[in-house]
Amino acid sequence: MRVQQAKNPQNLTGFEQEHLPWILTPDFIKKGEEFKVVVKVGEVDHPMCPSHYVKWISFYVNGKLIEKTKLTPSSGLSEAEFKISLDKDSKLKAQEECNLHGLWESSKEIILYRG
Ligand SMILES: [Fe+2]
Repeated sequence: MRVQQAKNPQNLTGFEQEHLPWILTPDFIKKGEEFKVVVKVGEVDHPMCPSHYVKWISFYVNGKLIEKTKLTPSSGLSEAEFKISLDKDSKLKAQEECNLHGLWESSKEIILYRG
């Protein structure tokens, strides 16, 4: 299945806003300190009804799968939470599959706070 990404991240289409995973992290992340990542699909809430819903959200750190959360229409929210800690600047990646509109992916670079 083809993985869909933002064609122009500065100017997302409505369809992209609804489907691209949106990776939310704290503003300041320190080395070795556990923090929560919320992955929402998408920036505009994706439907979660029996005919149209997000099947799963998976989360990667530096290319390594951390966790895959399965969702059903009864999950209610098209989002998942993950807890991680980082020991270096890292690339976070999330994928999701919509039952109608396929696979979507986005990523986010994390620069550790050195203050
Ligand atoms: Fe969809």
